[in-house]
Amino acid sequence: MVMSKFNFAVLISGSGSNLQAMIDAIDSKIIDGSICCVLSNNPDAYGLKRAKKADIPVEVINHKEFTSREEFDEAMIKRLYKYKPKLVVLSGFMRILSQVFVNQFHGRLLNIHPSLLPKYPGLNTHQRVLDSGDKYHGVTIHFVDTTLDGGPICAQSQLLVKTKSAEKLQNQIHDLEHSLYPKVIDWFSKKRLKLVEGIAYLDNKPIKI
Ligand code: GRF
Repeated sequence: MVMSKFNFAVLISGSGSNLQAMIDAIDSKIIDGSICCVLSNNPDAYGLKRAKKADIPVEVINHKEFTSREEFDEAMIKRLYKYKPKLVVLSGFMRILSQVFVNQFHGRLLNIHPSLLPKYPGLNTHQRVLDSGDKYHGVTIHFVDTTLDGGPICAQSQLLVKTKSAEKLQNQIHDLEHSLYPKVIDWFSKKRLKLVEGIAYLDNKPIKI
């Protein structure tokens, strides 16, 4: 079997349902590549179990053992270095990254956020959407800069809000995430998605959202 050269690292803090979607997408050849490691700041993240089950190397770096954000980020950079990832994917990774990390992976660092950015950066997006009475809600994948949930947008999926339950909405949003993230990773692996001078391009066209 010819192994694809594209590999990526996934950073998690929790359940890792998006990680699972990526593992499944590799199995079903939606992504032509492999996950070189799963790194978590949380030793108890359930996603670590998912990674182990799929025989993916896991790394745990507990942010609580560092006195500054920069030191923690340097430790992550060092740990990731041995895997030489072509892409680093944030997937429910609940730490804000410093300039040092963002610069290190400039143009090859993606995040997923459960809202139609620029609306609702930060936490509790589903409840905030319900409280505001929004008609639409959705998910955004973007290149990462140092602002909270900021950076050039790569893709969005949206749905019509038909429930008053934040939990139901979250489940619906998860379904969107699980199909969108693997698709965007595949674009990146095929060099269809790029960041050039602060602008995200798909198939050489600037992505306008
Ligand atoms: C997702 O909703 C993602 O958008 C957000 O954190 C959540 C992670 O979920 N950044 P999971 O750990 O992939 O299940």
